[in-house]
Amino acid sequence: MVATPGAQGGEQGWSSRMAFILAAVGAAVGLGNIWRFPTLVGENGGGAFVLFYLGCVLLIGMPLMLSEFVVGRAGKSDAVQSASRVAERSGVSRRWRVFGGIEILAGFLILSFYSVVAGWVIYYVWLSGGDFLSNALAGEPFRGAFPDIGQDAVSGMMGALFESPVRLILVHAAFMAVTVWIVASGVHDGIEKAATWLMPAFFALLVCITIYGAFTGDFGRALAFLFTPDFSKLTPPVMNEALGQAFFSLSLGAGGLITYGAYVAKDVNLAPTAATISLTDTAVALVAGLMIFPIVLGVGLDPSAGPALIFQSLPVAFQTMPAGSLIGLLFFILIFFAALTSSISLLEGPTAWAIDRFGLRRPVAAMLLGLLAFLIGVACALGYNVWADVRPLGFWGIFAETDILDTLDGFTGKIMLPLAGLLLAIFVGWKADRRLIEAESGLSGGAFALWRFVVAWLCPAAVSLILLFGLFPGLLTG
Ligand code: PFF
Repeated sequence: MVATPGAQGGEQGWSSRMAFILAAVGAAVGLGNIWRFPTLVGENGGGAFVLFYLGCVLLIGMPLMLSEFVVGRAGKSDAVQSASRVAERSGVSRRWRVFGGIEILAGFLILSFYSVVAGWVIYYVWLSGGDFLSNALAGEPFRGAFPDIGQDAVSGMMGALFESPVRLILVHAAFMAVTVWIVASGVHDGIEKAATWLMPAFFALLVCITIYGAFTGDFGRALAFLFTPDFSKLTPPVMNEALGQAFFSLSLGAGGLITYGAYVAKDVNLAPTAATISLTDTAVALVAGLMIFPIVLGVGLDPSAGPALIFQSLPVAFQTMPAGSLIGLLFFILIFFAALTSSISLLEGPTAWAIDRFGLRRPVAAMLLGLLAFLIGVACALGYNVWADVRPLGFWGIFAETDILDTLDGFTGKIMLPLAGLLLAIFVGWKADRRLIEAESGLSGGAFALWRFVVAWLCPAAVSLILLFGLFPGLLTG
């Protein structure tokens, strides 16, 4: 058993390797896989994006995930303190802990808008739940969704939600409250328990709905769409997007993984564990594509609908599909589970830090931070209606057109995560004590040398490129 941040409560780490894997897979698998990945694939033309994304995961994401776990378990504390301890034991400046600080701040900011989007999911669980119930009570549980309203009304549901600050804030509050409650309950009794219940349920739903889509939708076209590469679509901004998505989806650079790594027992071999988690996350993103696109393409809808793909196109598709009202409900429950196990990890990073830094009790830390993130999220929600004209970083070219939520999303995803990842790679690749890193990694000989080479050279080079082109897209267009 491992001492954890906030050990005053006598808290211990994960109860098994499996518990750690489920919690970390839960952190990784989320809105990023089911909402963002298919949206990006749709917008960026399919196959070539997918291939480039896979390259990013294997060459950059997986090695960096192992780096995060190594720092966490070696430091056995929150992200800042873990980085600081590893720096100290390596005889380099404790200032390297700055990447831990960026990670925690990034995680906290992501949580604030993540909860808003997850709130939309709750709203759709509510809508489709009501729809399913009324169909069931009418004796027709296997009807299509929303049988009594027209297609325009179904596709207008998203707009109606966005117009209402009260609704947006209520569902956001509900989601944040559940997140806080789980984190406040502790690593073992909250986070681990949630992951061990929700993740298996998530996988069961994913398999069922994918099989359903394969039989009722157009699986062949979806396969072709996802895997036929058209490399002319792979422009530098698209590559930039793919690498950013890999960071976001794997939860890199956001504090959660270092913190989860701190709770892992010494006898767990981190290298294969990091590989398992990265590959599972990637498989889920691909399967999510194979769940969503057959349904969307099967009813002739546009796969490049952007963020509305899930909240607008799919409900329209469910309207005409067999058992659409049941499948729609299950689909939104599935996303809710995925989002919840991710938001928990987003809150756990800052909570562990506040416990260590200020000696707060866990429930107090979780509640205070949750409340603060909630308030920032409220601003994001208002950005869809009363503050629709606000452009927080409007003076900055790349953010000139983006509303409050998209600005936070872009700022964290394009700048903070890669920056933290870059510093982490330099730290683990060049600064941290070689023997310490080797002992924690679970790798030895050629495998260790290869991993360290990738972290020291390839990751910094590739990540600097995303940062550069993310911040100065003009460099690409000349
Ligand atoms: N990986 C999550 C997703 O794909 O939805 C989002 C996320 C969770 C990012 C936790 C960062 C993090 F620390």
